[in-house]
Amino acid sequence: MNRQTDAFIVEASGRNTTAATAIGAALPHESAALHVSGEATYTDDIPELQDTLHAALGLSRHAHARIVSLDLDAVRNAPGVIAVLTAADIPGENNCGPVLHDDPILATDEVLYLGQPVFAVIAQSHELARRAASLARSDDVIRYEPLEVVLTPAEAKAKKQFVLPPLHLTRGAPVEKIASAPHRIKDTFEVGGQEQFYLEGQVAYALPKEMDGMLVYSSTQHPSEMQHVVAHMLGWPTHNVICECRRMGGGFGGKESQSALFACVAALAAHKLRRPVKLRADRDDDFMITGKRHDAFYEYEAGFDDTGRILGARVEIALRAGYSADLSGAVATRAVCHFDNAYYLSDVDIVALCCKTNTQSNTAFRGFGGPQGALVMEVMLDSIARQLKCDPLDVRLANFYGVGERDVTPYGQRVEDNIIAPLTDKLLATSDYRARRAALAAFNAASPVLKRGIALTPVKFGISFNVPFLNQAGALVHIYKDGSILVNHGGTEMGQGLNTKVAQVVAGEFGVALSRVRVTATDTSKVANTSATAASTGSDLNGKAAEAAARTIRERLAALAAKELSGAAEDVQFADGMVSVNGAAMPFEQLTGAAYLARVQLWSDGFYTTPKVHWDAKTLTGHPFYYFAYGAAVSEVVIDTLTGEWKLIRADALHDVGQSINPAIDIGQVEGGFIQGMGWLTTEELWWNRDGRLMTHAPSTYKIPAISDTPAAFHVQLYRNENAEPTVFRSKAVGEPPLLLPFSVFLALRDAIAAAVPDAPSAPSLRAPATPEAILDALETLQAATDAKAAAGTAPAPAAADTTA
Ligand code: MTE
Ligand code: MOS
Repeated sequence: MNRQTDAFIVEASGRNTTAATAIGAALPHESAALHVSGEATYTDDIPELQDTLHAALGLSRHAHARIVSLDLDAVRNAPGVIAVLTAADIPGENNCGPVLHDDPILATDEVLYLGQPVFAVIAQSHELARRAASLARSDDVIRYEPLEVVLTPAEAKAKKQFVLPPLHLTRGAPVEKIASAPHRIKDTFEVGGQEQFYLEGQVAYALPKEMDGMLVYSSTQHPSEMQHVVAHMLGWPTHNVICECRRMGGGFGGKESQSALFACVAALAAHKLRRPVKLRADRDDDFMITGKRHDAFYEYEAGFDDTGRILGARVEIALRAGYSADLSGAVATRAVCHFDNAYYLSDVDIVALCCKTNTQSNTAFRGFGGPQGALVMEVMLDSIARQLKCDPLDVRLANFYGVGERDVTPYGQRVEDNIIAPLTDKLLATSDYRARRAALAAFNAASPVLKRGIALTPVKFGISFNVPFLNQAGALVHIYKDGSILVNHGGTEMGQGLNTKVAQVVAGEFGVALSRVRVTATDTSKVANTSATAASTGSDLNGKAAEAAARTIRERLAALAAKELSGAAEDVQFADGMVSVNGAAMPFEQLTGAAYLARVQLWSDGFYTTPKVHWDAKTLTGHPFYYFAYGAAVSEVVIDTLTGEWKLIRADALHDVGQSINPAIDIGQVEGGFIQGMGWLTTEELWWNRDGRLMTHAPSTYKIPAISDTPAAFHVQLYRNENAEPTVFRSKAVGEPPLLLPFSVFLALRDAIAAAVPDAPSAPSLRAPATPEAILDALETLQAATDAKAAAGTAPAPAAADTTA
């Protein structure tokens, strides 16, 4: 393997690339050197002002209970404590919920999950605040009357307990088509949730300012919303509050809405005490308080023909929403819109339930419901193939969206940019899939304990917020007299390289080196009313807004250059740090100096709205996505059938980012997304006890993938392509779609399990995450079913295992 080489090949093949303009070049992340040297300033690294105090939260011990009494004297008397605040101290609205107002900042008379913040301690140090807050565990401090606890989606569904009404999308006549199909399948499946596990935890630092002002440094993907909820909580107009974020040490969706509670508590305390207050959650508290990826329980059914082509399908996706709505409505909508993944479904019925449970309020996580929608489709296709005793790849190919036919999604959007077939063909060739599948069968025949499995899975991922109004962005570009450039935009940097890409776009517009462009912290006093940096739209939206701002200035500069160099404005070229027309040229900084003296405005704003998107939330139809991003991956695994341990031997991923603004960053996103998705489906297991206590709340009990889990052979390549839509540099969003590539790992594990029990009457029932325990369970269940069938004297009948036949 040589990942460096992979990246380099793509860089060399990039079009429109010049060293001077930087756009399209595989340049390092704008903060790469600071990240590795430790100089990058995260929120907790901002030098603290004199008199800064530290907050910690007192958490509920019950998953569902009435608060009978709250006696905070012991907490107030604890060493170093300055104040203890409760909901009663909040001057405005006690809510930090993003959509519905059902997220109290601090609990009032009822707690709805174990870990819910009930009070805040403000103390002289972080440590003293935490010690005092831990008194929340004492019965003398909070007395509860326990109420009934509902934990799982299944329990909530039985009680018809939902945070939002069910979503339902139907097309054609799925019931009839399933009933009349030559083959049928009906099964259930489940996938666990996932903790975002950003390396930098939730943190906010609030500084009171004159005239009821508040500056909040927040590690957040959504500064505008933090500004808004803080103002609302304090009963202030929005302009009293400024929220700033230079960078996050990861967000992964976990800092879209979930940063609000921390920003609000820090700001509340700063307001009450007129002193700067910082709230930084300890890792365990972060786990206990904040929402995660929604886990899901599925019931599905399909009818299909002899080639495995689906004639009708139904699915019910029961998501664990947690105690409040948070972003569950939008997550569930995306799950509905991604059940199809890369496949045409003529007759289909999709239901998504947002089950209300006494657990953390689940939220955005890379893919935002899309992975939960598409995963069950891939499992279903795998089961169909096993029923037909053919290669799951062929069933996938038989169901792909067509070009010009079989190309309308269940929600009514035509797939106009479909490249899944040529992309898959290319990956089949480079990964040598067919030959390896044959070699694997030979290996398995000769290996009694170790069994290998392989799978190819595709991705089609819709890009845009599925709430149309969110698809807007603004930017500011300033050029100083000396020709140095400053850019500010509404997006946030969480490690994904957004600032680098936006700087490349601006450098490209002026034909200057990237080092001329400096990107600044996201700040609500610079660009107003921004959307969260989410849904992978960061560079599409903010790149375009910055491009617009830069173009406005460039036109002014071109007019001046034309005058100074005696040419036509439309012929002026900006390249290699020079401005030229008609054979005459001057350095960029000479022109900007002249522009200042000529009283030409050297700064501008820019604004962008995504065209084409519309959505009817009632019928769940419309054109929710501007375009689609595609990809596919082949994974090969080996399992130990005695212990359930496994290893990813080799993974090949081919991913479509359109024309890459920065291939090095894009390959990093594909690799990171792949490994993070693999963690979700294999090692990361969230476990709640019956009382609703999350038991896996630290790296000691919750296992994210490590560098050693990366396969020795990891071939990641970008698919040579350009966006059919005129996005910035004809690039495509890359943040989330690669998270779906490691579905191939999960399905390769399923393949290996099936190989271990060759005469099994059904497909393996492997749950996700496929921990060694889950793998052993699946092996045992499959062996037991096979033995039972043999004992009953019925020889396993080839291709006649229809569950409903
Ligand atoms: N990459 C890094 N390094 N850190 C992150 O937190 N978040 C992901 C993805 N890639 C994330 C990341 C998520 S959930 C999204 S929506 C996108 O980045 C957001 O950034 P973008 O829109 O600029 O791609
Ligand atoms: Mo990403 S889950 O949209 O923040």
